[in-house]
Amino acid sequence: MNNSHFKLSMQNIVKEFPGVKALDKVNFEIEQGKIMALIGANGAGKSTLMNILGGIHQQDTGEILINGKIITIKDPLDASKKGIAFVHQELTALSKLRIMDNMLINDYPTKLGLIDDSEAKVICKKILKRIGSDLAPEDLMEDIGPGDQQMIEIARALVHKPKLILFDEPTSSLSKKEKDNLFKVIKKLREDGVAVVYITHLLDEIYGLCDEVMVMRNGRVVSSGLIDEFPKDRIICDLSGEDGRKKNVTKKSFIVKDDVVLVVEDLNRSGILHDINLSLNKGEVLGIWGLMGSGRTELVRALVGLDPIESGTIYSICDGHKKQIAPHDLRQLVGLVTEDRRNEGLFQPMTVAINLSIANLKAFLGKSGVFIDRKKEKNEVEKTIKKLNIVVSSQSQQVRTLSGGNQQKVILGRWLQRNPELFFLDEPIKGIDVNAKAEVKNIIHELTISGKSILIISSEIEELLGFCDRYLVMNRGSITAEFPHTATKEQLMEASLSAREKGIMQ
Ligand SMILES: Nc1ncnc2c1ncn2[C@@H]1O[C@H](COP(=O)(O)OP(=O)(O)OP(=O)(O)O)[C@@H](O)[C@H]1O
Ligand SMILES: [Mg+2]
Repeated sequence: MNNSHFKLSMQNIVKEFPGVKALDKVNFEIEQGKIMALIGANGAGKSTLMNILGGIHQQDTGEILINGKIITIKDPLDASKKGIAFVHQELTALSKLRIMDNMLINDYPTKLGLIDDSEAKVICKKILKRIGSDLAPEDLMEDIGPGDQQMIEIARALVHKPKLILFDEPTSSLSKKEKDNLFKVIKKLREDGVAVVYITHLLDEIYGLCDEVMVMRNGRVVSSGLIDEFPKDRIICDLSGEDGRKKNVTKKSFIVKDDVVLVVEDLNRSGILHDINLSLNKGEVLGIWGLMGSGRTELVRALVGLDPIESGTIYSICDGHKKQIAPHDLRQLVGLVTEDRRNEGLFQPMTVAINLSIANLKAFLGKSGVFIDRKKEKNEVEKTIKKLNIVVSSQSQQVRTLSGGNQQKVILGRWLQRNPELFFLDEPIKGIDVNAKAEVKNIIHELTISGKSILIISSEIEELLGFCDRYLVMNRGSITAEFPHTATKEQLMEASLSAREKGIMQ
């Protein structure tokens, strides 16, 4: 596919944003037929480096060379003309449009000045086939799952026959099967002579997939080389600048008081949730495990009234008093971390301070009861930033300019400030680095010691194991099994598959 050998290098790249040097003299090199893992803690500068290659930002100083020739990358269109394609950290699909519209958005083929739908279909079919997808170009984006949407992002990237593809945390919303498929596609791209940069926090993923690795810390390259020279311990050590061992999560005692605080009875949402019954104890971490699409997120959304329910009763129990409660009233009692931080969790153009304190403004009312005590607010915000190690240049930095993982921490921080009795956490550790995961789990643990109750969903089964007091398994909108804290990965996986899926997976 690529006739001439392709090699791209970045030399002495510096990029400053107000208050932060995101990249400090970074050198980087990749050539065709190689997959490079780009690793680093939240805020290390990975996305910024790739955004420069993708034409989203320009470097302040430093040079980019393709095959030894200095180039400039003016904007994303220019990047794609130069053979660089970007698959982003968050899915960016236009859901109301067809797959083919999403794929060809800038490049729709025309005939005599008119849109040529049949040619568009041919182009799309060919690319979809190349990545092993049997989706139809005419399907609507909103009708396909996150894994397939991710595939369309890749298909879109392939329209321009790129020589370099940048993947920024592509697997954070994929199931195991979809991940395996993605890795197959990436390896096939390597065979075709494409160069790939792969950003992830899931270190286990990179072995068996990547050829090379580069580790960044605080805007600098700490180390790079062949993946074989980088066992996991070394990477963790390099990215955090600390001892290589993974930070320990405080060992849980798994003694939960038999003191129920929340009961859900026969909750139904037609076609989505079926006869959900559950209870949550004081000081308990209740893990909800299930495959993508099993109804985990839908359950949490229904409980707090974000989606309507057809039937069911929820009771909250406080000091022995059992009281029926409507979902939208329950929402007032719950610290809710949603999976979709971009659309539901954050006020993107607002400051970090506002995003952290918004759920807790009442606590900052001054003596007058009308005005916010800004000093108090500032102190609390500072405490939360410290507690969660959120990388910010100042409290007034806009949330949209934080790194992905730090945005996630802001959502969690908001609810820590509010200090509710219940926390519903949907993928709270998605997109955060290895050390931060341990930190967040320690914070959750502390919450339970102070009597808070946690309902947690995570697609990272290894992170849940040994951490929850109890597990509920969901499949197709129903709770199909319950396990104590001793549950194994095999037990949870097995229980999350229906008979039909078991047949397929064998
Ligand atoms: N547009 C911007 N304006 C201001 N600061 C920014 C902007 N984009 C990035 N930054 C800052 O640059 C630093 C590096 O961020 P970057 O997004 O590159 O990190 P990252 O390594 O991708 O982290 P993560 O793993 O959390 O995604 C962070 O301190 C971030 O807040
Ligand atoms: Mg990033």
